[in-house]
Amino acid sequence: MSLTFEGKVVLVTGAGGGLGREYALAFGERGASVVVNDLGGDIKGGGKSSAAADKVVEEIRAKGGKAVANYDSVEDGEKLIQTALDTFGRIDIVVNNAGILRDRSFARTSDLDWDLIHRVHLRGSFMVTRAAWNHMKNQKFGRIIMTSSAAGIYGNFGQANYSAAKLGMLGLANTLAIEGQKYNIHCNTIAPTAGSRLTQTVMPPDLLESLKAEYVAPLVLWLCHEQCQESGGLFEVGAGWIGKLRWERSRGRTVRYKNQSMTPEAVRDQWDNICDFTDATKPASIQESLHTLVDVLSKVDSEGGVAANPTASAATASSASGINPIEAVGQKLPETTFSFSHTQCILYALGVGMSTKDPDHLRFLYEGHEYFSCLPTFGVIPSQAAMMDGGLTSVPGLNIDFTQVLHGEQYLELYKPLPTSGNLKSQATIADVLDKGSGAVILLDVNTYSGEELVCYNQWSVFVVGAGGFGGKRTSEKAKTLVPPPKRAPDAVVIDSTTRDQAALYRLSGDWNPLHIDPSFAAMGGFKAPILHGLCSFGFAARHVLKQYANNDLSRFKAIKVRFVKPVLPGQSLQTEMWKEGNRIHIQCKVKETDAVVLSGAYVDLHGAPEASPEKLPQGGGLQSELVFAEIGRRIKDMGSELVKQVNAVFHWEITKDGKNAAEWTIDLKSGAGALHKGPYSGKADVTFTVSDEDFMEVVQGKLNPQKAFFAGKLKVRGNIMLSQKLEVILKDHAKL
Ligand code: NAI
Repeated sequence: MSLTFEGKVVLVTGAGGGLGREYALAFGERGASVVVNDLGGDIKGGGKSSAAADKVVEEIRAKGGKAVANYDSVEDGEKLIQTALDTFGRIDIVVNNAGILRDRSFARTSDLDWDLIHRVHLRGSFMVTRAAWNHMKNQKFGRIIMTSSAAGIYGNFGQANYSAAKLGMLGLANTLAIEGQKYNIHCNTIAPTAGSRLTQTVMPPDLLESLKAEYVAPLVLWLCHEQCQESGGLFEVGAGWIGKLRWERSRGRTVRYKNQSMTPEAVRDQWDNICDFTDATKPASIQESLHTLVDVLSKVDSEGGVAANPTASAATASSASGINPIEAVGQKLPETTFSFSHTQCILYALGVGMSTKDPDHLRFLYEGHEYFSCLPTFGVIPSQAAMMDGGLTSVPGLNIDFTQVLHGEQYLELYKPLPTSGNLKSQATIADVLDKGSGAVILLDVNTYSGEELVCYNQWSVFVVGAGGFGGKRTSEKAKTLVPPPKRAPDAVVIDSTTRDQAALYRLSGDWNPLHIDPSFAAMGGFKAPILHGLCSFGFAARHVLKQYANNDLSRFKAIKVRFVKPVLPGQSLQTEMWKEGNRIHIQCKVKETDAVVLSGAYVDLHGAPEASPEKLPQGGGLQSELVFAEIGRRIKDMGSELVKQVNAVFHWEITKDGKNAAEWTIDLKSGAGALHKGPYSGKADVTFTVSDEDFMEVVQGKLNPQKAFFAGKLKVRGNIMLSQKLEVILKDHAKL
């Protein structure tokens, strides 16, 4: 069905020529009663004539249409509407089209240039529309068109006055659409392009000719028809093409922290993210826009952190930010293999500051040494391949910007002394992904195996700047936590200088990031010089503890945890402060020259300190094996599910003392996360050992070969004897207990 306007009264302003004339003719042809308004001046707003409007009225009437002329300026809006009311008794449709130009470069724009443009375009549209408003409201029908311009939307040289007024009309239309809604008054805005006297100075004649006004009018007619429900829309139209525009908004970043003042530096640091339109939203109302701010207020106040994507709900945000914990957690990275010889061990030792100056260090630097060994913190090296080889980039649900990745924390636990050569396999799993607001933390658990044997476990805590706000949790029970040092002054302090080439040396162990060697790269990262690797300081600190509290006995090393707080420059001195609390040595590292803390919340756990060694335990009452089982219990708590995977068996122990049953223990590594039971066991064990407390200790300390003990009748075994081999995984580490 064709669209008609029978019974409707239309006012088209500036309809004496150009686009307005085209609209007036089209409305007239389709049955509307048309008020043809035109002041009949020149394009700059000068002069006045009734001829232009009269001519269009005649054209409409000649085709059998109804039309009346009005020669007032749109600034006298009431008069235009009065003409409609006087002639046709009502007003249904207002097309605000009248316009002039006074183009000037901004510096040369006079008060008059500014005011005249605003008076005709913006104030004129206001005056006309306000005069029609109550009539439309009362009759519960109204259609209004505002004529904006690409110059307003995008800006245009020499049209500061015009651009401002034209975008002002869009603002006016947006509000009229809202206020008119319940009265069936619709208001839309067009930004047309057509050849007319206004454009003949800026467009070549050919183009002017082909961009006909008749290619714009059909849109205006549709928007003004009672069938059209569009309101508050903005359309570009020309050459027979019509497109709709809307606002797009970047996801943005909150740069304010709870109880902290908001700073321009925080804005600067987040600038790229603030301006990044990836996954932008399209707010369509002031409510949607405000909702963001309310969201930010509640997030900052309740969580104390910063949020990145406050507009979207948790579910949509997670996909928007590229992090989806549900998808990512539990994902395994491709397995990596690390082959090494004594060269890597020596290079690493040099990298973390060992020197032939110290006779103690020779056994880490000389493969021919009787006790040649690998430093325990070398355990991070095979594991880092999982990170460096880009395995993280392929994890589904972890779509992050790898240039924004910082090494936040590190945990390393050794289950047996590291070999000095061989092949190690590392298996990395995304243990958890945390939402810290300003960024995301990825916890990467890496188990490193020699053959089937678990050698060490690393937890890499990686901070991804700007990747937070996906609605995830802030903490994880899987995270190896930092522990602050005791409040007293440190029990011991070791100061050690790094060399100018410390980072150049350390990087040969496999961390090739140019940040540690290339001055221009470091400058891009905001550092005045290439910085030392965090894991290099980590190696220094661990060495200091081992020397201070374990007499360099490597088998005493159990675990280390640190947080990397600030960078160290090669050549600076590291000051490791230590506090002994049982087998835990709390550490804090500073740069001596600046007193800046570089490693914090850190500790090294040692295996059984001398005073807790079994030899010195009170004899008689307590069983020595208690201590071993307690440690096994801790181990199961820490990594039970990993052990269950490897061992998959239930071991039962009957410990005797002076020929009598003294205790029973069951190590269940078959179900769930594993468990240790004390006392009689009702379930079915795969293998049961009976052994005296003393012989048990001899075995775990490596002093008595289990096979010999078996043949000598000291160790009785029932069930699947082959499974006892797997005990190595959990018992061997206790050789030095
Ligand atoms: P035009 O100059 O042919 O038509 C404008 C009409 O408005 C003229 O007939 C003029 O006498 C009349 N007029 C000027 N001041 C008036 C006043 N105070 N009261 C009553 N009538 C007055 O120009 P055109 O191109 O048809 O422009 C129509 C509208 O479209 C204008 O608002 C213009 O700014 C806008 N526009 C046009 C574009 C184009 O490519 N032609 C581009 C962007 C916007």
